[in-house]
Order: sequence, then structure tokens, then C-alpha cells
Amino acid sequence: MNSNNQPIGIFDSGIGGTSIWSAIHQLLPNEKTIYLADSKNAPYGQKSKKEIIELSMKNTDFLLEMNCKLIVVACNTATTNAIQELRAKYNVPFIGIEPAIKPAVTHSKTQIIGILATQGTLNSELFNKTTEKYQDTKIIEQVGHGLVQLIENGEINSPEITKLLHSYLQPMIEANIDYLVLGCSHYPYLIPQIKKILPEHIQIIDSGEAVAKQTQNILREKVGFASVEEKQPIFYTNTNPKVLSEILENKYMVLQKEF
Ligand code: DGL
Repeated sequence: MNSNNQPIGIFDSGIGGTSIWSAIHQLLPNEKTIYLADSKNAPYGQKSKKEIIELSMKNTDFLLEMNCKLIVVACNTATTNAIQELRAKYNVPFIGIEPAIKPAVTHSKTQIIGILATQGTLNSELFNKTTEKYQDTKIIEQVGHGLVQLIENGEINSPEITKLLHSYLQPMIEANIDYLVLGCSHYPYLIPQIKKILPEHIQIIDSGEAVAKQTQNILREKVGFASVEEKQPIFYTNTNPKVLSEILENKYMVLQKEF
């Protein structure tokens, strides 16, 4: 495979997909990355499939104008509702993110697992096709109502979030789950609070590392790795850049742009 110095494009409904960006950047530090936070339209979780497809196409158009060689859909809601349509329309490889049900089911001893995700993800055909395969495991589904909006408002450590998390996780603890799947790319930022609520034996799984490895595989097999030194990532948002900058610890350039 020849080298390829075009950037990798990554998008999410907002700032949450930076958890996926971070896993990709760590594994592939030589790759130039462009991240798009569609925070103006967040949350996607309550929108119709049609709207989610339209927004995902708008984000893809922007990243392709920036000459991206590969698109990572760093949003479970966009992946489970729009990835088939994206793949059908564009001639570029797409990597999606889906809730990590398989590893949780495979390792669960109680055969009871919990999943916290958006309504759009839990209602999607793709997600329901996945869970159908695991009839022997009880999968407790919980919509994380309100969480994405609070994270987008920069209120990660607020008492409101803690209160919501308690109400979503307590029934799962009582049901004896031993794995909790975080099915939304915003939720890894809540892991410190979640750990305070869950008993120690309950494992938390998200999909960041798996997506980074899949990105590496696609670069190796189809697209080509960058051949030059580490490059600074670029982040775009269509709202006030403050919260995105803060979640990146003010280390990177964040540009505000209409898209
Ligand atoms: N990060 C998106 C996801 O993974 C957030 C969804 C939303 O915008 O509601 O599903």
C-alpha cells in the first residue's frame, strides 16, 4: 500500500466523539486528523432517522471538501441510523462506532449486562439486529436522557449528571449486571462519576480502542498510512468553541465555522 498524507475525518453530533478521536490519535500519531463537532444540532439522539442521515451527509460533505481519505463516524446514533446510506452514497471508506455488546456478552458471568445509549441508537434496526444474536443474555437497555445536553453545556461534573446517572444505573445494579456498555461517544467522559456509583466488580466498556484499531486496519488494507511526522489535529465546531477547547484541555486549535 502506498503512503497517503490526506487527513482522517472524524465527526460527531458534538464534543463526545473526541473520546474516539483521542484513541485514534494515540494509536496513529502520525496521521493528520480533522474533527467536526456538529454541536449546533446536538443532540442527535431524539431526531428522526431521516434527519440523522441528512446531518451525517452534511458533515461528510464538509470533511470530503477538506480532502479526507477516510471518515470515522464517531457517534453511535449516526452510525446505527446512517452508515448504510453514507456507504451507498460516497466513494470513501467509513468506519462506524456501535455499542460494544459482543465483548460484554462474551465475558459476562451473570449473563446480564446493561447498556446506556441514546434513544436513536437503542431504537435503530442495526442495534436491534445485533442484540437479537444474543438471546441467552439479558440486556438491560437504558436511554441516557439529558446526559448529552449537559455534557455539551460543559456540565460534566454537575450534580444533575450525578443524579441522572444514579437513576439510570441503580436498577441495573439491582438486576445484577456485571458489564456496563457505554453506547454513546459522549459517555466515556462520565466514567469517573459512573465508577463512583457502580460496585467495583462491574466492568465498563466503550468502543474507542476498537474503532482506533479498525481505523488502523483500513489504512493498512485500503487507504495507506501517512508517511511524514506527527501533525497537529484541527477541530471545527459550529457553536462557541469554549466547551470543545476545554474538553481537549485547551491543547489544540479549535475553529468555529458554519457547516
Ligand atoms: N455521541 C453521540 C452518540 O454516540 C451522541 C448522540 C446525541 O447527539 O444524542 O450517540
